[in-house]
Amino acid sequence: MEIIVAVYDDWGIGCCGTQPIALSADRKFFRETTRGAMVIAGRKTIGDFPGGKPLPGRVNVALTRTAQEIPGFTVCASTEEAAELAKSAQCCFVIGGGSVYKQMLPYCDAAYITKVHTTVDCDTWFPNLDQDESWHLAETLQSGEENGISYEMLLYKRK
Ligand SMILES: NC(=O)c1ccc[n+]([C@@H]2O[C@H](COP(=O)([O-])OP(=O)(O)OC[C@H]3O[C@@H](n4cnc5c(N)ncnc54)[C@H](OP(=O)(O)O)[C@@H]3O)[C@@H](O)[C@H]2O)c1
Repeated sequence: MEIIVAVYDDWGIGCCGTQPIALSADRKFFRETTRGAMVIAGRKTIGDFPGGKPLPGRVNVALTRTAQEIPGFTVCASTEEAAELAKSAQCCFVIGGGSVYKQMLPYCDAAYITKVHTTVDCDTWFPNLDQDESWHLAETLQSGEENGISYEMLLYKRK
């Protein structure tokens, strides 16, 4: 299982249920990287999907303890259930948000991290992998600048 996330300089990832700054280059990278894969998201992140609908061209899995059915999603009531389901997929990404990243990180051995080089007010963070000795930066996949904000798409791997 792998993770995909966009972080600001302080590893903030969201505020008030959404991403305060979302770069179109990152959205494109997300679409291309996750195309055809299984994607696992928390119920709050699903609320931030366009129209609350499943992402097209992917197998959408929702983590929730409160909803039994969400149209277009396979519902899982625990991280263990989601991890078991992920075994049936050739490729599976954890796509957020904060609570789901934290709980699913131990199941993952690669993380696609877009570093958006700015700082904005956040109420949700991703664990700082630069300070985690069990992870290392393996590869810089892309870099660029959009609207005056520089960004890098980085691949971290578990040591
Ligand atoms: N920067 C990025 O790349 C990125 C990507 C995705 C999201 N985000 C941001 O992350 C924020 C949302 O994160 P969040 O932590 O507030 O919410 P979240 O992780 O998206 O969803 C939390 C919900 O997921 C369900 N859940 C969590 N753990 C579970 C478990 N072990 N078993 C079953 N269900 C479980 C619960 O749903 P129920 O309450 O229904 O039980 C919980 O309320 C937003 O600001 C969003 O924009 C950022």
